[in-house]
Amino acid sequence: MAFMFLREAINTYRERDPAARSGIEVLLCYPGLHAVIWHRLSHGLWRSDLKLPARMSAHLGRFLTGIEIHPAARIGCRLIIDHGIGVVIGETAEVGDDVYLYHGVTLGGTSSERGKRHPTLGNNVIVGAGAKILGGILIGDGARVGANAVVVQPVAPGVTVVGIPARPVERDPACRQAAAPVFVAYGTPCEETLDPLVRNLEALRAELLALEARVSALSRSTAAE
Ligand SMILES: CC(C)(COP(=O)(O)OP(=O)(O)OC[C@H]1O[C@@H](n2cnc3c(N)ncnc32)[C@H](O)[C@@H]1OP(=O)(O)O)[C@@H](O)C(=O)NCCC(=O)NCCS
Repeated sequence: MAFMFLREAINTYRERDPAARSGIEVLLCYPGLHAVIWHRLSHGLWRSDLKLPARMSAHLGRFLTGIEIHPAARIGCRLIIDHGIGVVIGETAEVGDDVYLYHGVTLGGTSSERGKRHPTLGNNVIVGAGAKILGGILIGDGARVGANAVVVQPVAPGVTVVGIPARPVERDPACRQAAAPVFVAYGTPCEETLDPLVRNLEALRAELLALEARVSALSRSTAAE
């Protein structure tokens, strides 16, 4: 189980981060991956009602990675925290699947009241470097948050927001990230503005990744028989 998680996490970094050259490099040199591993441990302790050990484990993870994730925060599959330093994910934050966070991102609260006070990120959300998302707001699937934005209002699925306070960038709906067939590193450029040759290459790459995933699923099921 742990091995499967690790393999999936490493593959995700290799697919999505153009700087990732090998699996061993990702395993040894990516603090975002280390932070998620620590969080799985801390979250397990938290759910087992071992609150202090969970906080201590999260604190150690923060010390080692520069990324602070509260042990109660809920993190989906294949989260990437790129570069990582300065990321803060609060206690009641929820992060969907295939989310991509850059360094300096805060998923923070705006009140000291107990209860839900941190944001919820849908699936396939990209949050640019230094962005702050504050309060118990929902960031819809496929939304993109620009670098250094401060988001205090909910963001609809597929919408890009920038600035302080963050506002939507006007876009042709056909360009929205939710509709894009592949992940685009840095959240840009819009699919429609890509060079046709690059677009074809991206489509081929997406097919190749899908085929690779099918082959590894088939070989896993053959090995299990
Ligand atoms: C927000 C983002 C996803 C938008 O990308 P895009 O869809 O290609 O948008 P464009 O570049 O066409 O910009 C659209 C408009 O938003 C503005 N804009 C883009 N990013 C912005 C940002 N972070 N803050 C403020 N304005 C921004 C552009 O100037 C442009 O304004 P205009 O329409 O008045 O000319 C992208 O700019 C971004 O910030 N990505 C995060 C990248 C990152 O954090 N990299 C870290 C690598 S280590």
